[in-house]
Amino acid sequence: MKKILFIEGDGIGPELMSHARRVVDSIAKVEWVQGEAGFATFQKTGTPLPSATLEAAKECDAILFCAVTTPPNIPNYRSPIVALRKELDLYANLRPFASLPNIPTPFPALNFAIVRENTEGMYSGIEKRDGDTAYATRVITKKGSERITKFAFEYAARRGFSKVTIVHKANVLRVTDGLFLEVARSVAAQYPGIACEDALVDSVAMRLVKSPQDFDNGVIVTTNLFGDILSDESSALIGGLGVAPSGNYGETRALFEPVHGSAPKYAGKDVANPTGMLLSTAMMLEHIGEKEASEKLTRAVRECYLQKVTTHDVGGSAKTSEMVERIVKLMG
Ligand code: NAI
Ligand code: MG
Repeated sequence: MKKILFIEGDGIGPELMSHARRVVDSIAKVEWVQGEAGFATFQKTGTPLPSATLEAAKECDAILFCAVTTPPNIPNYRSPIVALRKELDLYANLRPFASLPNIPTPFPALNFAIVRENTEGMYSGIEKRDGDTAYATRVITKKGSERITKFAFEYAARRGFSKVTIVHKANVLRVTDGLFLEVARSVAAQYPGIACEDALVDSVAMRLVKSPQDFDNGVIVTTNLFGDILSDESSALIGGLGVAPSGNYGETRALFEPVHGSAPKYAGKDVANPTGMLLSTAMMLEHIGEKEASEKLTRAVRECYLQKVTTHDVGGSAKTSEMVERIVKLMG
């Protein structure tokens, strides 16, 4: 039986995680292992990511994470999710964007994905301040660029997507994005069956708002900071933070989490949208080989939107628990 480490975190984390576990238990057999992390853990133990959690993360088949609160004013506080991605070398952040029925958005039938490099680039963590001047070092490596582009093409091939767009700013960041683009193009040459184009990040940000169908049925692959921004922008296209799922993949390990944070104002109120959490759970099920259960869950979530049993953030009036109840029922 596959072992899943679950980390519920803070705010709406515990309630959404308990719904996710209940949903999984109704369609698959997994062994749950609890891991602690987040602000409440910090208050209790003095660290937001106890070493026991990190060790357990290395031993499990997958990690299911909800969300943590990161306090703005504690010096040297390191967000446990950023630390987990780094420690486990989860280099690929995958965010699929598939429109759901009955969410009022200007482009109601989108299906595309963003693959973001997760370990280097602008978030390498190399910053310094020298008097009135501050510096951040943007690290781009051949290895990092190669593996992220490969991941994007493999994903496109698996999903039957027809193209990959390499997003960069090589006209200004000539050396770092020059290398990224050069390596990404050479990887693209190994996938003659998938169309490849490249585009500047600022124009892509504009086109995602104006004509997102340009990217439909395709994958955008890009460096860390650009991917962070474009993927939050893209979640608005399909109904906002409450519905967007994600996966963080390494060579062997993987961690799945909704895109949203801990939304403290909704904690304990039974109003948070469980969709991002449940679709991340479906991605986790696929990763551990439970393809049928994964598809069943994804189908039930879509059906729940067709039946208009949805939370207030997407225009509905259902409670979180009512929505989950319906999804469980729909899975039979
Ligand atoms: P947030 O994602 O928690 O909330 C922003 C707004 O989005 C909420 O006020 C709410 O209106 C909406 N929202 C988010 N999730 C929702 C859901 N499931 N259903 C319905 N509406 C939802 O981001 P915010 O407010 O910037 O951060 C709150 C805390 O979460 C902070 O401490 C922040 O550091 C942390 N955070 C953690 C993340 C993680 O664990 N990966 C990611 C982003 C933020
Ligand atoms: Mg973000």
